[in-house]
Amino acid sequence: MASTPDATSDPTEDPVLRMENVTAGYGNTTVLHDVSIAVEDEQVACLIGPNGSGKSTLMKSIYGFADVQSGTVSFRGQEITGRSPQQNLANGMSYVLQDASVFPGMSVHENMLMGGYVFNDDDRAAARAEELYEEFPVLADLRSQSAGTLSGGQRRLLELARALMVEPDVMMLDEPSIGLEPRFIDDVFERIEQLNDLGTTILLVEQNAEKGLSIADRGFVLASGEIKFTGTGTELLNDEEVGRLYLGG
Ligand SMILES: Nc1ncnc2c1ncn2[C@@H]1O[C@H](COP(=O)(O)OP(=O)(O)OP(=O)(O)O)[C@@H](O)[C@H]1O
Ligand SMILES: [Mg+2]
Repeated sequence: MASTPDATSDPTEDPVLRMENVTAGYGNTTVLHDVSIAVEDEQVACLIGPNGSGKSTLMKSIYGFADVQSGTVSFRGQEITGRSPQQNLANGMSYVLQDASVFPGMSVHENMLMGGYVFNDDDRAAARAEELYEEFPVLADLRSQSAGTLSGGQRRLLELARALMVEPDVMMLDEPSIGLEPRFIDDVFERIEQLNDLGTTILLVEQNAEKGLSIADRGFVLASGEIKFTGTGTELLNDEEVGRLYLGG
């Protein structure tokens, strides 16, 4: 976790992401009820909670994939409620979805270039891809291979690298470690921490709650579409009730 001061030390600075009293869902279906969270600059925030509690919906309602029915979403103090995913990407926010999002019929390299499509500049996208191949040599070796043939771990890495094409200010990662074997999980977490050390603000959803909270400056527990607990990662890890209800402790 980055050693940034607690938000309370500078009340004049807006959080990077803020949801205020957000009720959201899909069409007439409401999933989130009156959710308020703040993610501070250069921090790692981790959202945990049971299956179906609305964690992915929370991310989707920030990014413009779900419908915000009331309340507001803001980015560095500017309201962005309902802004499109394309606009968010072009403004320094990237999002790795929980579900497979590689284009299976395209090569690894073509997938990488798609991650930089908002540049509208093929040379810039190609140059950025080369930088990322240096950081992800596994992907460099696979660049000509069809993405549909990648293993689960390789695909997750491609999704992560592709989301870095835009050099995001904020990254939202929905269950980056799901389905991966332990050594890949450790690799993904190390990369998340490295990115954060370089100044990227991270909002993470993690089913491995202990692992997620252990790297988090701030944690949120969501259940039945409501925020039930908020605290530092350590506070939530040590909270008796959170442990009993949500950490299997
Ligand atoms: N596109 C959609 N249309 C209607 N309902 C949806 C849609 N996507 C999700 N839901 C519903 O919203 C609720 C919350 O789903 P969500 O995917 O946000 O949960 P989650 O906490 O991310 O779960 P998991 O841990 O299983 O990923 C569920 O009841 C789900 O069925
Ligand atoms: Mg989910």
